[in-house]
Amino acid sequence: MSSVSEAPSGARVLIVGSGGREHALAAAVKRSPKVAHLMVAGGPNAGLAAIAEEVTDIDAAAATADLVIIGPEGPLAEGLADRLRAAGRVVFGPSAEAAQLESSKAYTKHVCAILGLPTAKAEIAESLEDALAALKRMGAPVVVKADGLAAGKGVVMAETMEEAEAAVRDAMDGAFGEAGHRVVLEEKLTGPEVSLFALSDGNVVREFASARDYKRAFDGDEGPNTGGMGAVSPAPGFTDELAEEAMTTIVRPTLDWLADRGTPYIGVLYAGLMLTEDGPKLIEYNVRFGDPECQIMWERVTSDPYELIYATAAGTLETAPLTLSDGSAVGVVVAANGYPGPVEKGEPIRGLDEVAAAGAAVFHAGTRPEGGEVLSNGGRVLTVVATGPTVAEARRDVYAALTHLDWPGGRMRTDIAQ
Ligand code: AMP
Ligand code: GLY
Repeated sequence: MSSVSEAPSGARVLIVGSGGREHALAAAVKRSPKVAHLMVAGGPNAGLAAIAEEVTDIDAAAATADLVIIGPEGPLAEGLADRLRAAGRVVFGPSAEAAQLESSKAYTKHVCAILGLPTAKAEIAESLEDALAALKRMGAPVVVKADGLAAGKGVVMAETMEEAEAAVRDAMDGAFGEAGHRVVLEEKLTGPEVSLFALSDGNVVREFASARDYKRAFDGDEGPNTGGMGAVSPAPGFTDELAEEAMTTIVRPTLDWLADRGTPYIGVLYAGLMLTEDGPKLIEYNVRFGDPECQIMWERVTSDPYELIYATAAGTLETAPLTLSDGSAVGVVVAANGYPGPVEKGEPIRGLDEVAAAGAAVFHAGTRPEGGEVLSNGGRVLTVVATGPTVAEARRDVYAALTHLDWPGGRMRTDIAQ
């Protein structure tokens, strides 16, 4: 990495990943006058396809790129950032070693224990016998988590010992797939949840933004967990003081520890926090932007997104401009009926221009272009975002814009940011 690392003009940027988060990252960097060409690897949705060139050979495309942004956790856990950095590329995304903060809950618990970070008390078991013994010691209610990447589905809140034992047996039985060979039992914390996003260039750490996401499928936080049905940024009630406390007691110690042991973290660290009576506690780390939080947060950024991401990847974060609007952004996910279960695909989605004309930003997730139309192509299909001076105004505007959407096969929550 060169020491003089000003973000070049006329830049070519490669985005790895093809969901709503990546569409938002692509749209954000495209706002920069310094970005000339976007490439996307991963079979782009209709939104990405409209603004980026599709590439299939990541290494070859990266060799022509001034900046590579890796969106999802999968390629990070597999070491894509390591490989591209070894080839001399400027990469936004942590090493496989650091990505264990997301790919292994046991690793994160280990880091928490070493550093004494505020988090739920936990026990890690490697066999059914050990897990059942640990369960006896902890009692219910208890949170049972499969280790490894389980796409947010590897967590069971057990209220009774019977439920807990069943969840442990399921996890050990492979109910969560490959992720279930190890199980983490955790004390159940209570309080509002906040997602805090920090940027790290391997040395300098800066707070990016906070958000609250809505994980349950239906209004009133009913129904099954999903990847997220909407979000608001900043997270209501998350004061500057609480943010600073979480940065000081949780995020900075973690990133400093990684740097000290020679595995500096480069990218965004997403801390899932619970604001308990004893202060912010860490629920989990993710090594990427949240989806849909990413779509919502970048709408608040008023400085140059490309310069910021480049500086993070190139080790010059300290002096990079980073300003966000004081107002709020609210984003609503439109999903196919049936999500998070099986869904119909291939339905035309109309009215998108009208939604945008009403002042909202439209990010695609599970869509594909065909014959000049946008067709549904997944569970979560769109995230629509509006900003405003207050949460109430942003919320009003996003739902007003969404009245222009014409897709009978879609549904959304009506109570995001209420
Ligand atoms: P995770 O997969 O670790 O993000 O957990 C998914 C969700 O489960 C979190 O967003 C929380 O809502 C909840 N959760 C996880 N761990 C705990 C805990 N120790 N106490 C209470 N809720 C938890
Ligand atoms: N919206 C939650 C996540 O991206 O993990």
